[in-house]
Amino acid sequence: MHRAAALLLLSVFTLAAQSIQYSDSGKTWLLNTRQSSYAMGLGADGALRHLYWGAPLWRSDDLTAPPPRRDISSFDPRQMLEAEEFPGWGGPRYYEPALKITRDNGNRDLVLRYVSHRIAGNDLDIVLKDLNDPIEVTLHYRVYPDYGILRRSATIRNATQRALTVESAQSATWNLPPGEGYQLTYLTGRWAAETQVNHEPIHEGQKVLESRKGHTSHNFNPWFAIDSGDAGEEHGSVWFGALGWSGNWRISIEQTPYRQVRVTGGLNSFDFSYPLKPGETLETPPFFGGFSAAGFGPASRMLHRFTREQILPGGATSRLRPVLYNSWEATTFAVNEQGQKDLAGKAAKLGVEMFVMDDGWFGARNNDRAGLGDWTVNPQKFPQGLKGLIDHVTSLKMDFGLWVEPEMVNANSDLYRAHPDWVINFPGRPRSELRNQMILNLARADVKEYIFGFLDRLATEYNVRYFKWDMNRSFSEPGWPEAAPADQRKLWVQYVLNLYEILDRLRAKHPNLEIESCSGGGGRIDLSILQRIDEVWPSDNTDAFDRQRIQEGFSMAYPAKIMSAWVTDVPNMNTRSTPLAFRFLTAMQGALGVGSNLNKFSEADSALAAGMIAAYKRIRATVQTGDLFRLASPRTNDVTVNQYVAADGKQAVVFALRHSQQYNTAAPTIRLRGLDARALYKVESVNNKLVERQPQLSGAYLMQVGLNVNLRGDFDGTAIILERQ
Ligand code: GLA
Repeated sequence: MHRAAALLLLSVFTLAAQSIQYSDSGKTWLLNTRQSSYAMGLGADGALRHLYWGAPLWRSDDLTAPPPRRDISSFDPRQMLEAEEFPGWGGPRYYEPALKITRDNGNRDLVLRYVSHRIAGNDLDIVLKDLNDPIEVTLHYRVYPDYGILRRSATIRNATQRALTVESAQSATWNLPPGEGYQLTYLTGRWAAETQVNHEPIHEGQKVLESRKGHTSHNFNPWFAIDSGDAGEEHGSVWFGALGWSGNWRISIEQTPYRQVRVTGGLNSFDFSYPLKPGETLETPPFFGGFSAAGFGPASRMLHRFTREQILPGGATSRLRPVLYNSWEATTFAVNEQGQKDLAGKAAKLGVEMFVMDDGWFGARNNDRAGLGDWTVNPQKFPQGLKGLIDHVTSLKMDFGLWVEPEMVNANSDLYRAHPDWVINFPGRPRSELRNQMILNLARADVKEYIFGFLDRLATEYNVRYFKWDMNRSFSEPGWPEAAPADQRKLWVQYVLNLYEILDRLRAKHPNLEIESCSGGGGRIDLSILQRIDEVWPSDNTDAFDRQRIQEGFSMAYPAKIMSAWVTDVPNMNTRSTPLAFRFLTAMQGALGVGSNLNKFSEADSALAAGMIAAYKRIRATVQTGDLFRLASPRTNDVTVNQYVAADGKQAVVFALRHSQQYNTAAPTIRLRGLDARALYKVESVNNKLVERQPQLSGAYLMQVGLNVNLRGDFDGTAIILERQ
């Protein structure tokens, strides 16, 4: 090869290897991951424009900032046609702004212009400033080149000499390539019916996904995917994003009359007002985005791997989730030392690794009307404190976990009698109770210290490995009477920041402590709580049939590793009874737990449970850290099929769960994915449901011809384990 050609090739590779390229001639930025590119450019007017988001590009010199557009009419100004990267609300702009402010003299116009930028490794900061005064916005971009993920957030700084108030602070505006025919996928729900998948065309107008409830909420999860209109699990273009904020958030999906689709998300501007004194800043939550050229499957897999390795505490080095037992559904509030010890003994025999005592162990907590807030061990139920139980649990070689609900208080509690002012409230107005409880105002420093203090004491005094941190109601009457009137709405933000601070401090002080995020099931699941916890409780609904869809929706955005999934007793909340094996096979697709009343297990139940737990331990690394392929959806099939492939390709496991057979039809053939076509796999079903009798099959056969499973009647299922030879 010519030296010149070799040098050129080398420089091409070097360029491609750089995750952030800036072209001074074109005034463009190109952000690259292995799976995608994202580009911006500077307009002649100094505005930062979005240029591109999609499949990888490699040459920033190809890009030029688009020339200024012309007004179409006096009603359709050029600003409406331009794809601004982070639009302020000012000038003739009528779409959803990324930032809206009011100065103390009433002036609200904000037009942002480029000032400077800084590249450091995978980080890019771009500073924008209003065309008149130093109201500054620093846009933060972090590229995760191996993961296909871009992290965005913004810092708003009042560098003027006067006070101003922020009225809308978004993390990012994501512009899609100009076009039409896009489809939106998003997750909705309510208590006991979380993460339901919705899929619909995007039309002109605005669609808002949000929480006004103070926590992430069951109703919408802060995740979206937009596809080109024809995408499926393993084909088609998919742009996706996930916002990390455990308070009031908002994501709007907007199609303008000018063939533009943009997604704007960050802090919810509803009831929002955030005064900034001179020199003060406001930081918006992280909004993560990515692009898949081959459907929803890779989009989910990118987010799963990213979350496991870059978001969760400990990342790739964190341990696999243990098999857990939780006493809640067996005992509800009727916990005591002997009862818990008995359950622990039975759980240990099944192979359980972590024993969690749920609600009822503290204060006067005999039902949900009293005791919340009084975090001292109930002396009637535990005359010796918790030590006797914890020693027993650890002697059985299990870790001990404890349920807490730190943010809440019952009116009937010593804490409320001592500090009625600690709850969020508007003076003179009703303090609405939900589940008989009120919310402590975590935005207050004294409340924050009280909560950190008792959790720290519990973690220090006892050998607690794990807190199940619950949060069982949404906000109401969100007043903060002690703050100055203009600052009271800061509660929405400060509450969440203080929650994060408590979790961060606890983890720093107790490095072995693990935490589960529960909010009456899936009311607090997002990428910022996940930076501080180890798993989540996706739903209080443990009906294995309902779980198929809840877990499918969950898997769109979040990895199996953090998805706590219990086997519980039947009939359940739908008065439905599914066989124990079906319940196990459903729960084994996440972080397996058992919540049954083990005192009622027959010998056959215990044998089945022990066998399933042993099988789970064999495949758990594959389920928890492997690649997920959703082969058949419960929304469209009578069989739900999910396949997990280990990162090193040595093991794969396929779960097939049939909820109902009709017309005596055989279950459909399962064509596998993600295997090595040339390799041989040893194939076995955990409960002998395979039609194929050959002990080994090639990857090519498994992917092209497929497997047949003998699933008959209602609620029949299997797991097929494949070991690469
Ligand atoms: C919530 C949780 C349950 C259980 C109860 C205890 O409903 O989601 O798992 O912990 O609280 O009161």
